[in-house]
Amino acid sequence: MKPSSTHPLIELRHIYKFFGGLCATNDVSLTVNPGEVIGLVGDNAAGKSTLMKIIAGVHAPTEGEYLLDGRRFVPRSPRDARDAGIEMVFQIQDMALVPELDVADNLFLGKELYRRWLGLNLLLDRRKMQEKSRDLLRELGINIPTVTEKVKHLSGGQQQSVSIARTVFFDARLVILDEPTSSISITETRKVLDLILELKRKGVSSIIVSHRMDDIFSTADRIIVLRRGRKIEDIHKEDTTMEEIIKKIVHAEELSLRGHA
Ligand SMILES: Nc1ncnc2c1ncn2[C@@H]1O[C@H](COP(=O)(O)OP(=O)(O)OP(=O)(O)O)[C@@H](O)[C@H]1O
Ligand SMILES: [Mg+2]
Repeated sequence: MKPSSTHPLIELRHIYKFFGGLCATNDVSLTVNPGEVIGLVGDNAAGKSTLMKIIAGVHAPTEGEYLLDGRRFVPRSPRDARDAGIEMVFQIQDMALVPELDVADNLFLGKELYRRWLGLNLLLDRRKMQEKSRDLLRELGINIPTVTEKVKHLSGGQQQSVSIARTVFFDARLVILDEPTSSISITETRKVLDLILELKRKGVSSIIVSHRMDDIFSTADRIIVLRRGRKIEDIHKEDTTMEEIIKKIVHAEELSLRGHA
C-alpha cells in the first residue's frame, strides 16, 4: 500500500453501529493523521471500545464510511486491519499474548522466522528471533531481563510493553490501546506512555482510550470525547484543559440523565 501525505491515515465518515436497538456509535466522524496521538475519553458505555473495534476490524459499522489513505476500507476481520497496519492492543486480561511462550516467541507470533533446511523454510530460527527481540526491546527502551522468560512470569506493565512492541514487528501504522494502563502500577504506566511517544517518533499514530486524564494529557495531541455514542468534542490538547474535558464528560452525562429523568 502506498501511503499518501495528502490524506489522513484514517477517516471515519458518519459511522453508526447498532447492537439490536442500541445505538453504540452514533454518527461519528473523525480523522487520525500520520504520527498523531489521539486521546479518546468518555464515561462508561460511551462507545469508546465499540468505535475502536470498528477501526480494528472487529465490528463492521452498520452505516458510514471508513477510509484508509483516502480510499474506502472495508476490513472483514482484525486480520484485514492488521494487514493494513492497524493493530489493537487490548486490555491486559484479554491481550493477544501467549502466557506459556517466552518473550521472543510472543514478539514473533504469527511472523516467525525460519531457517532453511534442505531448501525448505522449516526450522524455527530461535537464535535470530531472540537476537532481533533483544534489539527491538533495547531500541524501544523496554527493560525485560531476558527474552527467554515466559510471558506469564512478567509483570503486567512488562506484558503490556511486549504487546505494544509486537506492533512494531507488524509494521503498524496505527496502534489502538484500549485502557492500556488500567491495571498496572504508576511506574509501569509511565513506561507504557513513553512507549507510545516512542512509536510517535517513529511516525506511528495511536489512539489511546483511558479514564485517566493524566495518561491522556501526557501523550495525546488531540482529544476526542464521546457521550452515548456521539462525538461531543474533538480538540487539540493546547486548546483545552483537563478541567474542561472532565466537565465535558461528567456534565454532559448529568444533562443527559436529567433529560431522560
Ligand atoms: N457486542 C455487543 N453487543 C451488544 N451490546 C454491546 C456490545 N458491545 C458493546 N455494547 C454496548 O454498547 C455500548 C457501548 O459500549 P462500549 O464497550 O463501546 O463502551 P466504552 O465507552 O468502551 O465503556 P467502558 O469505559 O466501560 O469500557 C454499551 O451500552 C454496551 O453495553
Ligand atoms: Mg471500553
